[in-house]
Amino acid sequence: MELFKIYNEDCLITMAKMPECFVDFIITSPPYDNIRNYNGYNFEFDKIAKELYRILKEGGVMIWVVGDATINGSESGTSFSQALKFKEIGFRLHDTMIYYKNNPMPQTGNRYHQHFEYMFCLSKGSPKTFNPIIELTKYNGLANMKNRGKSGSLLYDKVERTKEKKVGNVFFYSVGGGISTKDKVAYNHPAIFPEKLVVDQINSWTNEEDLVYDPFMGSGTTAKISHLLNRNWIGSEISKEYVDIAEERLREHLTSDLFNVNV
Ligand SMILES: C[S@@+](CC[C@H](N)C(=O)[O-])C[C@H]1O[C@@H](n2cnc3c(N)ncnc32)[C@H](O)[C@@H]1O
Repeated sequence: MELFKIYNEDCLITMAKMPECFVDFIITSPPYDNIRNYNGYNFEFDKIAKELYRILKEGGVMIWVVGDATINGSESGTSFSQALKFKEIGFRLHDTMIYYKNNPMPQTGNRYHQHFEYMFCLSKGSPKTFNPIIELTKYNGLANMKNRGKSGSLLYDKVERTKEKKVGNVFFYSVGGGISTKDKVAYNHPAIFPEKLVVDQINSWTNEEDLVYDPFMGSGTTAKISHLLNRNWIGSEISKEYVDIAEERLREHLTSDLFNVNV
């Protein structure tokens, strides 16, 4: 396999070249429910799901970002059925996380605006790496703590409150032109990840030099962020048009000697 390469082919073909337990981490957004046509390519979920499990290392994590189409008035539920299928195959459904869009496309009709997609965190066994994102607590520092003394009278102690905590599993991102990425060329793809989402997930579940794989690489967001965070990466993208977009986007970030390294 060559590192730092987007294989312009069906991801099933790329994965067939990989040995078992090869990659540390997978982050991807599949072509779901034919919401977008992506030049009419096939998406064989069952076969792909089994291959993803096979190539992931023990303790590896996969982030599967997915939403549902509304068909004949009903949401498809494809996201749920995929998560359950992954469980049947052997993945743990480690955490059902939410990718919340601060500024979604407004919707008409008798529904609330669609603000989120699922971000299923699936693992092969217990995750081997977890570097949680930390935030400051709202009320940190010293505080008065009330206690009853032996006599029943109120005593006040100064206690140090925890200053930091793990963030919650709803991740908030602003999206759209100039926000998801500054790379103009990326917007020639219809469904790009916000870069910050990929930064947060790669930082959480991998360490430097781990191998990251995106089977549906699209405009190359996973490749770019992996590179900037000093992770190794491989991608697949079936559409030549999108591989060209990704390569143009990556050119300024990757030096030529980084391309085509054999492992
Ligand atoms: C939702 S987009 C991914 C966008 C990507 N996360 C980004 O930030 O640009 C899904 C991509 O999967 C590609 N695709 C569809 N079927 C595929 C397959 N079988 N193998 C590889 N890529 C495929 C589509 O061409 C499309 O670019």
